[in-house]
Amino acid sequence: MVVKVLVLLGSYRENSSSSRYAKAFLEGLSSKTQIESKTINLAQKKLDGCTGCYACSPKESFYCVIKDGFEEIMQEVVDSDIVIFAYPVYWYAIPGEIKNFVDRTVCLFDMKTYGIKPSLKDNFSKKLFVCISNSAEEGKSICERAAYPVQSFVESYGAKYQGVYLSGTQREDNKNQNQINEAKQAGIKAFNKL
Ligand SMILES: Cc1cc2nc3c(=O)[nH]c(=O)nc-3n(C[C@H](O)[C@H](O)[C@H](O)COP(=O)(O)O)c2cc1C
Repeated sequence: MVVKVLVLLGSYRENSSSSRYAKAFLEGLSSKTQIESKTINLAQKKLDGCTGCYACSPKESFYCVIKDGFEEIMQEVVDSDIVIFAYPVYWYAIPGEIKNFVDRTVCLFDMKTYGIKPSLKDNFSKKLFVCISNSAEEGKSICERAAYPVQSFVESYGAKYQGVYLSGTQREDNKNQNQINEAKQAGIKAFNKL
């Protein structure tokens, strides 16, 4: 079995901690199964925020009036078995570019059931979402808080969720070995959640 993985990065920085942790996670996962991965950096996509127009509401599947590449990314989400968000904590919260993406997933919301639209229910019920959030400060709760919007939309839509909270991150590559190991272990664990 080949597991299709989509990595949604959320850091503007080159060689970001987010990308290193996502890579370590993939290393762990690929020690258990064959994977096919694709990475999209949401920080570079400049997605607009949701305007709350609800033009998406009567549509059967995902649809958004704002044509800025969001629908294409959502198609990649639908086509993947695992979706990994990897981003830094910004002021004790989720960075704006990732929040814009999360807000736009309201286009999957079904007003009748207050869950995911029926056409996507089976697809999401099999999918695992992973959120790797990382902070400079020590304290996993800081990362957990920043991951909460991702966890919320994932669980509201009936998908599986795994949080990987890596605090106390240093900028220098060689000082993060503990966090890198933790990300790798989380990748190994993710296999059992599939
Ligand atoms: C705008 C901004 C806000 C930040 N806010 C926090 C914060 O509230 N708490 C914290 O621990 N680190 C904060 N940081 C530090 C980053 O979370 C930290 O350096 C992280 O490891 C960077 O990850 P990256 O390399 O993936 O971008 C902030 C950094 C920036 C640029």
